[in-house]
Amino acid sequence: MRLMTEDTPPFDLDAMQDGMSGVDALPRDREQLLPALQAMHDALHWLPREAISYVASHIRVPLSEVYATTTAYSELRLEPPVPGQWHVCTGVACDLAGADALLEAAPTAARIDCQFLCALAPVVTDEHERLFGRVTADELRERAGA
Ligand code: FES
Repeated sequence: MRLMTEDTPPFDLDAMQDGMSGVDALPRDREQLLPALQAMHDALHWLPREAISYVASHIRVPLSEVYATTTAYSELRLEPPVPGQWHVCTGVACDLAGADALLEAAPTAARIDCQFLCALAPVVTDEHERLFGRVTADELRERAGA
C-alpha cells in the first residue's frame, strides 16, 4: 500500500508502519533522535516529511531540529531512491582516489557527499544504499550495467 500527500512523493505505508514501530521502541529521549531517524530510514530507505514529523513528535524535539539533523547526515535521504541509480562519492578522499573516472564510467551516476568510508575510497552506492569501496571504473561499469 502506498500513501501519497500533495507535496510528498508516494511512500510505502507498510514500510512507514515498520519505521514507526522501530521509533516507538526507542525511549522518548532527545539522545534517541539519530537512532529514530535511522529506524525510519532503514524501513523506508528515505525520509518523507511525514516520517520526520513522526520522529519529532515521538522524540519531542522541534521539527526544525529534526530536519537540521537529517540534512547533516549525508546517509539520510530526503528524496526517494531512483531505481537503478548509482551514486559516486565525490568527497576529498574519493575525489583524489578517482571519483571522476567513476563518473565517466557511469554517466548516469549521481554525486554524493562523503560517506565516511574514506579509507575505502573511491566509494559508490547502489539504489539499495549498499556501499562498495575501492571500486574501479571497470567494476562500476560492470555492476551498473553502464
Ligand atoms: S570522501 Fe568518499 S567516503 Fe569519504
